[in-house]
Amino acid sequence: MSNTASERPAVTPAHESSAATPAHESSAMARARELGAAVLGTTHPNPPVGAVVLDAAGVPVGEGATTPPGGPHAEVVALARAGERARGGTVVVTLEPCAHTGRTGPCADALLAAGIARVVVAVPEPTELAGGGAQRLRDGGVEVLLGVEEAEAADGALAAWLTGIRRHRPFVVWKVAGTLDGRVAAADGSSRWITGPEARAAVHRLRATCDAVVVGTGTALADDPQLTVRDADGADAARQPLRVVMDRRGRLPGTARVLDGAAPTHVSAAPSPRELLAELFTRDVRRVLLEGGPTLAAAFLRDGLVDEVVVHLAPKLLGAGAPLVGDLGISAIDDALTLDVVDVTRLGGDVQVRLRPTRHTGAGRPADGRG
Ligand SMILES: NC(=O)c1ccc[n+]([C@@H]2O[C@H](COP(=O)([O-])OP(=O)(O)OC[C@H]3O[C@@H](n4cnc5c(N)ncnc54)[C@H](OP(=O)(O)O)[C@@H]3O)[C@@H](O)[C@H]2O)c1
Repeated sequence: MSNTASERPAVTPAHESSAATPAHESSAMARARELGAAVLGTTHPNPPVGAVVLDAAGVPVGEGATTPPGGPHAEVVALARAGERARGGTVVVTLEPCAHTGRTGPCADALLAAGIARVVVAVPEPTELAGGGAQRLRDGGVEVLLGVEEAEAADGALAAWLTGIRRHRPFVVWKVAGTLDGRVAAADGSSRWITGPEARAAVHRLRATCDAVVVGTGTALADDPQLTVRDADGADAARQPLRVVMDRRGRLPGTARVLDGAAPTHVSAAPSPRELLAELFTRDVRRVLLEGGPTLAAAFLRDGLVDEVVVHLAPKLLGAGAPLVGDLGISAIDDALTLDVVDVTRLGGDVQVRLRPTRHTGAGRPADGRG
């Protein structure tokens, strides 16, 4: 595992049949995905990986997730918890164990030293630098399965890190709260409390999974948001994402709450979303929460730079006020930007819809083809 940007050429895994994965390994893989998701936002620029150790009889005896950079990787944490019970057992892990020495030693060597007999991997390591772990394990006599439930892991906690490797930019989640008629603010400009406390708490949990939170000057001036992560008790969380304001004309006043010192802040004069993302990428940001208003949302969508959308819909009608998104340059229904619904959840009296764009404005091009 690493943050390197050079991509490894595709290799044909020696064992790739997930049909060969028994039920207890499939449950362990589901748990490994959960463990990876639980550390999302704390590992950048490293991948958030989850790992479960099963003993020789297939019983879970240790689990772990990537620790912040410089700390042990998921497999090493899980092996330490399993101790001697790992010998002759299986490690189930969401990303191929690394074979290189970075800030920590190679995970493949730790697995060999622990006497692991079998390793079940979801996503093959995509980078040259950290690659070769599966081969090193096989050379050491370990049975390795690659590509087991790969899509689930790649679309989950690893999605942002993989976007960094493949597109050399951060993954962008656009979050917006609107009324049933798609208004994000009332005609008088007020927008606070569109949604209820459960949805607002969910926004703080979502921010905590991101490395940066982005707004435009429009939102910074209208709402003066603080953009920090607060826990359930309302206290500032120990780890805060970078707060970012896109302010190409220098309109942000020095008294703005985003400049209050409660978390790091970056005021950017980047002329476009793509240039902003390039700036953030060099600062190790891998997952961005776009919380800006309709102008910025439209700019990111027009450039094909939104990877996931989280909409909080309040069962309210305003009939007037700022729309969910600004002009996308679309005039015909056939050219609509279409999205796939990933899931729908009730948050108190509101509804959360999570979506992924399927194609972009006009050209009918898949989201994957751009950005
Ligand atoms: N309900 C919600 O979820 C929600 C969330 C956010 C905002 N809002 C509401 O949305 C309203 C503000 O909307 P808004 O559209 O003005 O906010 P915005 O999208 O956050 O800010 C837009 C401004 O960002 C600046 N900007 C900097 N770089 C840009 C670029 N590359 N492309 C486009 N703009 C860039 C522009 O100002 P310059 O021309 O000065 O550069 C632009 O006017 C407020 O009423 C707020 O309450 C609601």
